Parts: sequence; C-alpha cells; structure tokens
Amino acid sequence: MSHRFVPMDSVELDELFVIEQSCHSFPWSRNTLASCIGSGYQGEALIWGGRAVGYYITQIVVGEATLMNICILPELRGQGLGRHLLHRCLQRLSSEQADCCFLEVRAGNKPALGLYREIGFEPLAVRKGYYQGEAGREDAVIMKLTLDENPMCKKGA
Ligand SMILES: CC(C)(COP(=O)(O)OP(=O)(O)OC[C@H]1O[C@@H](n2cnc3c(N)ncnc32)[C@H](O)[C@@H]1OP(=O)(O)O)[C@@H](O)C(=O)NCCC(=O)NCCS
Repeated sequence: MSHRFVPMDSVELDELFVIEQSCHSFPWSRNTLASCIGSGYQGEALIWGGRAVGYYITQIVVGEATLMNICILPELRGQGLGRHLLHRCLQRLSSEQADCCFLEVRAGNKPALGLYREIGFEPLAVRKGYYQGEAGREDAVIMKLTLDENPMCKKGA
C-alpha cells in the first residue's frame, strides 16, 4: 500500500489525539500533543491507506535531537511501519544538521527497545523509577544514536 509523510499540522489534532490515546498506556494530554506540533519541534505523520496511522515528534537543541514520541496504531504494528517512520525521522534530523539523537524509553517496552536497538541506538543510562507504570514505578532507559555514523541517515539510504 502506498504511503507518504506529511507535516503534523496538516492532520487534524483530533485525529492525532485518537492515535496518541490508542498507542500509549500513559498518553500525552491533548494540550501536550498540541504544544509539540509546530514551532520548535519537527514531526511528521505517516499516511497509509489514505489516513494517518502514526507519527514521530522530535526537538533539536544545539545539534542534539530528542525523539519525543513515535507511534503506530496497534492494529498496524509488526509490518515494518515503525521502522519506516524512524528511518524517515533520522534522515530528517540528519538533513537538519543534528549530530545525535537521544530518547527515553520504558524499560519494559520491548517493541520500542527492539526497534531502537535494531536501528543502532545504544543504551547510555537507566533512570530508576522514572515513569509511572501499570504496577508501580518503571525504569527509563536513555539511549543515543550518533547520526553521521548511522548508515540509515546517509543521503540516499
Ligand atoms: C514501537 C512501535 C512504533 C514499533 O512499530 P511497528 O510498526 O510495530 O514496528 P516494526 O514492525 O517496524 O518493527 C521493527 C522492529 O522493531 C522491533 N519490534 C517490533 N515489534 C516488536 C515486538 N513486539 N517485540 C520485540 N521487538 C519488536 C523488531 O526489531 C522489529 O524488527 P523485525 O520485524 O525485523 O523483527 C510500536 O510498537 C508502537 O507504536 N508502540 C507504542 C508507542 C511506543 O511505545 N512508542 C515508543 C516510545 S515513545
């Protein structure tokens, strides 16, 4: 099925918020999502089968990017869309002159950890009990990818 990437602000906030709520056990509020769209942030939605099915949001501060959010609708996972979205995200960061990308992920989030490791992110540190979890507190794993060393970020990759 054909796909394309579009700026976040070209998709209705209501549509993005439905995705946010279906993707995360502790989703952002509507206001937080709205505040991470537009000035100061880079983000794109993935359009697949004629509708938005996921998105990424990043922020770059002095050459250091942070991946704030990435998600794919639950019913469409496991077929390479998340990898595709992250690949696109890293290429955009590279083209915007970011040197590296950081992220924080729940220690129990196996799909996301698997995706990040596969792409080349490396764990840097663990923040004990950083997140609220389903059963008490949950650790955060901080990960980093150096963009110019990653083959996925080279032009034409
Ligand atoms: C993380 C997420 C974006 C992955 O999307 P996806 O479309 O299912 O991922 P893909 O199909 O592209 O999988 C790519 C790789 O990720 C890893 N992966 C994906 N699902 C996995 C799972 N259930 N268990 C372990 N690894 C998994 C694998 O390495 C996989 O490669 P493979 O298929 O060759 O084994 C998706 O699970 C999601 O939206 N999760 C909820 C939101 C979230 O947790 N975001 C990250 C924190 S902000």
